[in-house]
Amino acid sequence: MTRPLHILGLESSCDDTAAAILRGPGDSAEILSSVVRGQADLHAAYGGVVPEIAARAHAERLDFAVERALEEAGLGLDQIDAIAVTAGPGLIGGVLSGVMTAKGLAMGLAKPLVGVNHLAGHALTPRLTDGAAFPYLLLLVSGGHCQLLRVDGAETFVRLGGTIDDAPGEAFDKVARLLGLPQPGGPAVEAAASQGDPTRFALPRPLLDRPGCDMSFSGLKTAVLRVRDGLASEQGGLTEADRADLCASFQAAVADVLAAKTATALVGQEGLTALAVAGGVAANRTLRARLESVAAEAGLPLLAPPMALCTDNAAMIAYAGLLAYEAGRRDDMSLAARPRWPLDRTAAPLVGFGKKGAKA
Ligand code: KG4
Ligand code: ZN
Repeated sequence: MTRPLHILGLESSCDDTAAAILRGPGDSAEILSSVVRGQADLHAAYGGVVPEIAARAHAERLDFAVERALEEAGLGLDQIDAIAVTAGPGLIGGVLSGVMTAKGLAMGLAKPLVGVNHLAGHALTPRLTDGAAFPYLLLLVSGGHCQLLRVDGAETFVRLGGTIDDAPGEAFDKVARLLGLPQPGGPAVEAAASQGDPTRFALPRPLLDRPGCDMSFSGLKTAVLRVRDGLASEQGGLTEADRADLCASFQAAVADVLAAKTATALVGQEGLTALAVAGGVAANRTLRARLESVAAEAGLPLLAPPMALCTDNAAMIAYAGLLAYEAGRRDDMSLAARPRWPLDRTAAPLVGFGKKGAKA
């Protein structure tokens, strides 16, 4: 019997430094370890990710992440058969840190190197966690991403739509800031919304009157600002109830837009096996409930990977790398870090991008 294949994955495209080890083969892959070290503390004072700080932290921490991943998996470096690394899209300094570390390991160990698209990692996660069969539709929603992707194969994706400005998590974070709630804004806005009336303020549903699956969230945030300022000038400030109602109204608008555009994306798609959702915003219960209905109406199951694998991690990179490796793909020392790298080369270029870089 041949020894199972062990693949090391590295992720450093945004503000999480991550390393993970998977045991193959791809059709029954097992996560042996997944180490993620966030950088929220380093960027908190700046109101967003500072690329130079992120890159330096990745460069300092990647080695330790690899060491921990090996320890947790109970393996030595000599038992690693291949190295997968996020080669884009993302913040260039961070991606470079990962690619250089991976090249050093691949060269030192004389093992194959596979460059992975970060979005492919997210897109393939429902297959890793739930065995989703191709093709399935993925709604990827986080602070940096907003895409509707049809996942046709391990390296075949069709982008059906996405945001033209802010990512939804970014909108949650900005609304939290406008209303004096803590960061990350999503959980804080959701908690406040649970006490509020989602029908009190009629906020816009941007682009819902247009065909297609593109979305927009920046006008919604401006609408929240106007309501806040209106209430402040009428009554001198916001009560707790006002704030809860405004959070609930905003959350309902985001969920309406995401649910409606996901339903539009499902129209006319043949042979889909599932609707999947991933990214930090997938934690939102109102959104999940809406997506459950959209999936049920289309006769599909809704797949939502566990949160630790929904948000940025290296297990998804190791998995995408494993599938590419099994398909015979190899990179060499010329592997380049790509700040922009659309998954679907036929899709029109994006107009806007999220606070965490050009990934939305
Ligand atoms: O995937 P993630 O951890 O990181 C990246 O953006 O890369 O997503 C974080 C985003 C933040 O904007 C956060 O506010 C949002 O996900 N988020 C939520 C919730 N939990 C996290 N948004 C809405 N509702 C939530 N419960
Ligand atoms: Zn991501």
